[in-house]
Amino acid sequence: MYKAACLVLALFAVANAVPSTYDTEHVWKAGNLSYIVPQDAILGGFDPYGYNTYVGRVKSGSDILPARVVVETGTAYFNTETASSKLLVYDILVAERNLRYVWVRSFDGFYEKGAVAVGTNVKNERVYCCRARTDGGLLIGTLLLSQKVCIIKHETLALRKFDKYEVLVAQQFNGTVYY
Ligand SMILES: *[C@@H]1O[C@H](CO)[C@@H](O)[C@H](O)[C@H]1NC(C)=O
Ligand SMILES: *[C@@H]1O[C@H](CO)[C@@H](O)[C@H](O)[C@H]1NC(C)=O
Repeated sequence: MYKAACLVLALFAVANAVPSTYDTEHVWKAGNLSYIVPQDAILGGFDPYGYNTYVGRVKSGSDILPARVVVETGTAYFNTETASSKLLVYDILVAERNLRYVWVRSFDGFYEKGAVAVGTNVKNERVYCCRARTDGGLLIGTLLLSQKVCIIKHETLALRKFDKYEVLVAQQFNGTVYY
């Protein structure tokens, strides 16, 4: 009986673990140190060492997550809900398809029209790009609407959670918000 219950639970867990998917609404270009920075890459802020960071994304485990890409070193810094990490391969967001990208003020996981998702996480939840000023930088972080906070953890710095932050939004050039 106990075994059967465990089996059912295990099957349930497998059924819940959906593979993450990459966003395809926006144009993302593969990158590493060997690639030149794409024209129309989108600046997201700067890190505590004064390097500009571009909006990127990485695959980490079963999650697609926003990344802070420092092109001088070919490093994509990112964080999960709890931990920071970095990778040397990443995608960089580029402004194409007649869209422009702007950072808009937001709060509490409110859905902003045109908000840019990098993809989904293991729970099939869309993961958005947020940013906040912290630790001497302007750092791109991870926004899960259900968590209602922008989560930022850079390298060994403390885990930060902001209920007020900026979120990356795509707009048509003529001012229409892109859906
Ligand atoms: C970057 O990726 C290309 C294509 O996959 C590969 O040939 C190159 O060695 C990579 N460069 C670095 C620095 O990883
Ligand atoms: C802006 O562009 C969109 C998509 O091309 C179009 O549907 C909309 O009518 C345009 N709006 C204006 C005010 O021109």
